[in-house]
Amino acid sequence: MIGHGGAAGGDKPTLAVVGATGAVGTVMLSILSERADIWGEIRLIASPRSAGRKLTVRGEQVEVVALSEEAFEGVDVAMFDVPDEISARWAPIAASKGAVAVDNSGAFRMDPDVPLVVPEVNAHAARVRPRGIIANPNCTTLSMIVAMGALHAEFGLSELIVSSYQAVSGAGKEGIDALREQLALVAGTELGTHPGDVRRAVGDTGPFPAPMALNVVPFAGSLKEDGWSSEELKVRNESRKILGLPELRVTATCVRVPVITTHSLAVHARFENEVTVEAAHEILAGAPGVVLCDNPAEGEFPTPADAVGTDPTWVGRVRRSLDDPRALELFVCGDNLRKGAALNTAQIAEVVAAELAGGAAAR
Ligand SMILES: NC(=O)c1ccc[n+]([C@@H]2O[C@H](COP(=O)([O-])OP(=O)(O)OC[C@H]3O[C@@H](n4cnc5c(N)ncnc54)[C@H](OP(=O)(O)O)[C@@H]3O)[C@@H](O)[C@H]2O)c1
Repeated sequence: MIGHGGAAGGDKPTLAVVGATGAVGTVMLSILSERADIWGEIRLIASPRSAGRKLTVRGEQVEVVALSEEAFEGVDVAMFDVPDEISARWAPIAASKGAVAVDNSGAFRMDPDVPLVVPEVNAHAARVRPRGIIANPNCTTLSMIVAMGALHAEFGLSELIVSSYQAVSGAGKEGIDALREQLALVAGTELGTHPGDVRRAVGDTGPFPAPMALNVVPFAGSLKEDGWSSEELKVRNESRKILGLPELRVTATCVRVPVITTHSLAVHARFENEVTVEAAHEILAGAPGVVLCDNPAEGEFPTPADAVGTDPTWVGRVRRSLDDPRALELFVCGDNLRKGAALNTAQIAEVVAAELAGGAAAR
């Protein structure tokens, strides 16, 4: 069943990385180089602009090919790290050529015929994929959902109230460049003491609606109905789908902060049963993909500056709500380009590869 192309890899499956030249694609190539080498050929695909460029993966130079139907010949699993509209058009084409498409864009996440998968939480969902496509959740949801899934399995989740502190790389390379430029403009000044002084110094705010340097911005994504932002609705809809809780009460306020990479979230999680900090600590300490870092007396709690570049979801500041014995307060950090994007996609692809190797493919 596997390795229907993959001349370079014997009977190991052939993997295509579509969008290999982008921000997520670049992290993907380094993750593929670090993880267990289960792939035969790894084919790198991008726009015609990048065709012929050579990129390094698994220590070897691989030439990028332009996106085309032929590029999917013999591919077993195709990851898509491209804009929504490119995924919307090309993931079904990859699937029609026999590949399982794992899509990192927002194009298919809420499609009822496309599973939305976080391997630590709902790996089983990856097996049922009527369209031959599996979706990867958005980075804000992914930054907390592994920890929430572990607590839900024990206590039964009934409500999430979330405030995010989102890094600028969630807005791609353009977001990173904007913050770095703004920080250079304000460094060493006395700015930040009068209304509008930072805004005037910064000028063009790039992809953000307000200055990011010396500031926090209570808006991320695009404006949707009734004042909600697209990021806030994604947290609600995607948490419900991943956890299999269509009625879960979820309220999110998404805020952008002057951090390059790694999203943080302050979470109020309410459960069906009473909770204790001790039990929560035990669950989180034993949960795959989670690191408990919770000793404030010693100054130990997660921060983006410490969590960036790492794989796990970091959890700290675990407290039982003072007015509600069924609720916990937590602070969570996760690298939005690793677990929040490329790592989760790589993990889904590995789940599919294992399934194909077992000959039990759902399509
Ligand atoms: N940044 C994050 O934190 C994050 C997190 C989760 C999910 N995502 C999602 O992941 C996807 C990629 O995001 P990114 O930040 O990596 O974007 P990016 O840096 O802009 O990279 C886009 C990639 O898509 C390719 N591409 C663009 N137009 C194409 C076309 N017409 N045909 C073929 N390839 C094309 C680009 O190739 P060229 O270099 O050849 O133009 C590049 O490889 C998006 O859907 C995004 O929403 C991003």
